[in-house]
Amino acid sequence: MSNYSYMALGEELDKDAYVVCKYRVTTDLPIEKAAEAIAAEQSTGTWTGISTLNDEVFTRYAAKVTAIDGDVVTIAYPEEDFSIRVGAIPQILSVISGNLYGLGSLKGVRLEDVVFPKGILKQYQGPKFGDKGLREILHRPEKPLVGTIVKPKIGLSPKDTAGYIYEAGSGGLTNGKDDETLVDQAFCPIEERTKAVAEVLDRLREEGHHMVHAINISTNGQDIRELAEDVQSWGATQLMIDVLTCGYGAIQAVAEDPRIKIPVHVHRTMHAAMTKDPLNGISMRVISKLVRMCGGDALHIGTLGAGKMGGDSTEGRLNQDACQSDDVPFKSVMPVCSGGMYPGIVPAVVKAAGTNCQIQAGGGVAGHPEGVRAGAMAMCQAVDAAFEGIDIAEYAQTHHELKLALDRWGTK
Ligand code: 3PG
Repeated sequence: MSNYSYMALGEELDKDAYVVCKYRVTTDLPIEKAAEAIAAEQSTGTWTGISTLNDEVFTRYAAKVTAIDGDVVTIAYPEEDFSIRVGAIPQILSVISGNLYGLGSLKGVRLEDVVFPKGILKQYQGPKFGDKGLREILHRPEKPLVGTIVKPKIGLSPKDTAGYIYEAGSGGLTNGKDDETLVDQAFCPIEERTKAVAEVLDRLREEGHHMVHAINISTNGQDIRELAEDVQSWGATQLMIDVLTCGYGAIQAVAEDPRIKIPVHVHRTMHAAMTKDPLNGISMRVISKLVRMCGGDALHIGTLGAGKMGGDSTEGRLNQDACQSDDVPFKSVMPVCSGGMYPGIVPAVVKAAGTNCQIQAGGGVAGHPEGVRAGAMAMCQAVDAAFEGIDIAEYAQTHHELKLALDRWGTK
């Protein structure tokens, strides 16, 4: 490292001139040295002093370590370190979440949070529909949305997929979706699937029930916009994109395209490779903020402590806050509580997440002893009980489908 110091503890910064990040750092180094190594590596420094770094470049572009609280360090990056015309999220991530993970002196680094200045936020459009837009489409102003993921996640034909969705909608569900591993396999071509599902959604609408189904369009960058348009023209009511396998730019490309007039559901498959280790990686909170900037209308945030994916309810609430806080100039994202969901844990999830969320179950619908329609009814009954504040076991006394679900899976 050169003679330049990146330490600026306690310095009052203009929050509109910096991107401010919080990192949890595990190291044998004194924490100040570790923080400085990150600030240097991610801005104007490298592993040694360099003759090409001068006062002007340092003063203008160097990151500053502004706070250290135990193992959490705050680093502020000047807004000018970020691209203005091209670059977007890939360039932002290279700065705030790039080389630093490889620094040998650090045993672990986790990017816990990021706050962007207005100048960067205004380069993004955020969700076109957001939670309120989805509620309008579904004619469901208050209660949580209730969704399903078609199961098995692969193997069903377009006709069977549509049959599943018809049953789920007839049981009262508001949302259906493809799973993350289904896109355009030979057993279920995307065009046929989209058209078959559109047909049953029309039928449900004629019968008085509003439901959308997210078709998974996750694919290569050069193809995704065209696929989104095709799928929309085949009758899709919602699109789904796996954000981490496709990249944030894929969401942005689709959401910001004025020809796309349906909401984008965002799946987070692969997130645990980055989010699971409490001492290394990137928090889901950060991912949620980026998805919101890029225009995701709904985003998986976990089940806030319950269900097969576990997770931590505090972290879940931070994710939800990133989706819905009013400190950014974007519409709110609908948080999707999904992963091992079943009726018995709905009260706990609604208690933790509140009612402005989408409660979603795959196995918890398709695994019902009386089939998909009854599974959908049981999920809706569980959500109704939670919404009305009625004890779920008591509600089940007069709701047969819920009773069977509780008998099969319990409430823990
Ligand atoms: C998801 O997309 O969240 C998972 O496929 C959930 O499936 P499950 O409800 O059967 O766990």
